[in-house]
Amino acid sequence: MHAKVVVVGSLNMDLVTRAERLPRAGETLAGESFETVPGGKGANQAVAAARLGASVAMVGCVGDDAYGQQLRGALLAEGIDCLAVEVAAGVSSGVALIMVDAASQNTIVVIAGGNGRLLPASVQRFEALLRDAEVIVCQMEVPPQTVEYVLGRGRALGKTVILNPAPVKGPLPVEWFATIDYLIPNESEASALTGLPVDDLPSAQAAADHLIALGAGKVIITLGAQGALLVSGEGSEHFPAPVVAAVDTTAAGDTFVGGFAAALAQGRSEREAIVFGQRAAAISVTRPGAQPSIPSLAEVGNL
Ligand code: RIB
Repeated sequence: MHAKVVVVGSLNMDLVTRAERLPRAGETLAGESFETVPGGKGANQAVAAARLGASVAMVGCVGDDAYGQQLRGALLAEGIDCLAVEVAAGVSSGVALIMVDAASQNTIVVIAGGNGRLLPASVQRFEALLRDAEVIVCQMEVPPQTVEYVLGRGRALGKTVILNPAPVKGPLPVEWFATIDYLIPNESEASALTGLPVDDLPSAQAAADHLIALGAGKVIITLGAQGALLVSGEGSEHFPAPVVAAVDTTAAGDTFVGGFAAALAQGRSEREAIVFGQRAAAISVTRPGAQPSIPSLAEVGNL
C-alpha cells in the first residue's frame, strides 16, 4: 500500500476510570466505571487519519503481551499498514492510566513499555515508508532520539513534517525547529515549550511568536473550546471551535492532528485542513474514550 500519512509514535492501552471528580493526594474515591480502550497518541492520530480518508502506515513498537496484540489488531481493523509495528520481547506494551471527571476533564499517567524500544534503527528499517509518504507525523511518547531522527529524515526527503509535542516537559532542542513544518502544541504544551503562560489568544500568540523566532515553520496552538491559532512568519489567524457539549476530551488533540494530516495529504490547503481537523475533534469530545471517539469521514462530512 502507498501510505500517504506515516505516523511514527506510541501505542498504549488506556485503562480508563470515570468518577465524579479526581481524587486528592492520599484519597481513595469510589469511581463509576472502568474500561480498557486502545489509545496512545501515535495510534490515535493514525486511526484519525485513516478514518478521515488517508491511507496510513504506523511505525511503532508494542510489548509481547495481550495488550500489544489488541493494539495492533485495532489498527489493522482500520486498514492501517502495521508492517512497521514491531513486537519487543520482555517488555509490556505501553499503558495509560486515565481518570475522567464529571466535567469531562482528564488526567493521564503513561507507562512507555514497548514505546520506549522504538529506536532510530527501527525506523531506518522502514525507510521506504518515509520515502513514499506525503506527510510524516510524530509525537513525543517515544524516545527523543527517534523523534529527532524522523524529523531530520522527513526534512531531508522533502516531506511535510508535523510534530505534536506531547507530552513535553520543557523547551525542544533548538536544532529540531528547522525540521518541522507544523508544530502543533496545546496550551499547556505551548507553555512548557516557551516558559510563557498560555491560556487565551493573546498569550497563545506570544508563545507562537517565540516558537517561530526559534525557527519553527508554522505553529498551530490548539486551545480547546477557544479554537486554534495558526501563526507563521506571514501573520496569524484564529479558527473558532465548533460549539459542542463535551463528555470526554481524551484524544481530541489527536483527532485534530490526524484529521489535519489526512486533509493535507489529500491536497487540501492548510486552512481547509485546520477547519476539517477541528470539526473531527469537536465530534470526538462528545463521545468517551480515545480511538472509539474518533469520527469517520461520513460523520465529519467532506471538505
Ligand atoms: O492523547 C490521548 C492519549 O494520551 C491517550 O490515548 C493515552 O494513551 C495517552 O497517550
